[in-house]
Amino acid sequence: SDPGLVERARKAKAALGDRLFVLGHHYQRDEVIQFADVTGDSFKLARQAAARPEAEFIVFCGVHFMAESADILTSGDQKVILPDLAAGCSMADMATFDQVEECWEALEDAGLAEQVIPVTYMNSSADIKAFCGRNGGAVCTSSNARRALDWAFERGGKVLFLPDQHLGRNTAVLEMGMSLDDCVVWNPHRPNGGLTPEELERARMILWRGHCSVHGRFTAESVDDVRSRVPGVNVLVHPECRHEVVLKADHVGSTEHIIKTLESAPAGSSWAVGTELNLVKRLAQTFPDKEISFLDRTVCYCSTMNRIDLPHLVWALESLVIGEVVNQITVDEDTTHWAKVALDRMLALP
Ligand code: 13P
Ligand code: SF4
Repeated sequence: SDPGLVERARKAKAALGDRLFVLGHHYQRDEVIQFADVTGDSFKLARQAAARPEAEFIVFCGVHFMAESADILTSGDQKVILPDLAAGCSMADMATFDQVEECWEALEDAGLAEQVIPVTYMNSSADIKAFCGRNGGAVCTSSNARRALDWAFERGGKVLFLPDQHLGRNTAVLEMGMSLDDCVVWNPHRPNGGLTPEELERARMILWRGHCSVHGRFTAESVDDVRSRVPGVNVLVHPECRHEVVLKADHVGSTEHIIKTLESAPAGSSWAVGTELNLVKRLAQTFPDKEISFLDRTVCYCSTMNRIDLPHLVWALESLVIGEVVNQITVDEDTTHWAKVALDRMLALP
């Protein structure tokens, strides 16, 4: 990265001292992650956001829903800053509040809402988290989806899982022993989700029709291909991948789980990793004694994560130095209250 910008970022960070806390998601660029005080997956970062109550500014190097969660979990005086407001998440955008309300009304009309617990993946907007809080549900991340679903099924016979159908299906079928027939997919673009009343009645998991465009690119062929190219390779994928990919893989786990697995893997072992490319490249550099490659032959970064680059970070930091707060992310009071209810239920999971 540009040495001039690196120096400017360093200077601005030093000038802000303890007033500043920089969080960085594992999918961020190297040029940005080098300035993070803490790195983590979305679960760890949600916990860390509240860990520095004395910091006036939390600069979140990640995507919009993560910065919103940080604002919800921190005290009112702390300001959360997203260096580029265009860093959204296509998966989070696949479930809008109006669509989810419409689905809930249909479940009410069918007399089912009472037995449905809504659970949303962290990768969703604050108003979807608040919806879950208001309706007896919770948030989960990829590292605690199983525990969150156990919690939900202790409280109701069905779960509405938002917005990632793959995480929901993979967790229900591969970790909880449900069958594919227990899962249905609610399509927000079709009347009644594209489902018959019988299908809804029978389902245990109502999966929202959302997915991650990055993890969704890995296919069963990517797995076959790498196995034929690299004998003895271990295939390790994120649960946002499609069900058939996870079925073919050797290991599945959240971003933190992927890192831990590679950390403890024996020297000389080969790994093909199905997750975001910035992270896979960094892991390959960090563990040169293991052969770590990307599961697919085509390059696939998360384009919105990548919007946070060094020029945007420097701009945000230097603005703070001169007393100008740019790109602050704020969630209104009512949404904060109910989203926090849903987030706290997750944070309280055993
Ligand atoms: P985790 O950080 O929970 O593994 O989620 C992956 C992801 O896609 C973040 O956007
Ligand atoms: Fe969203 Fe996927 Fe990017 Fe994560 S990797 S921010 S889920 S598009």
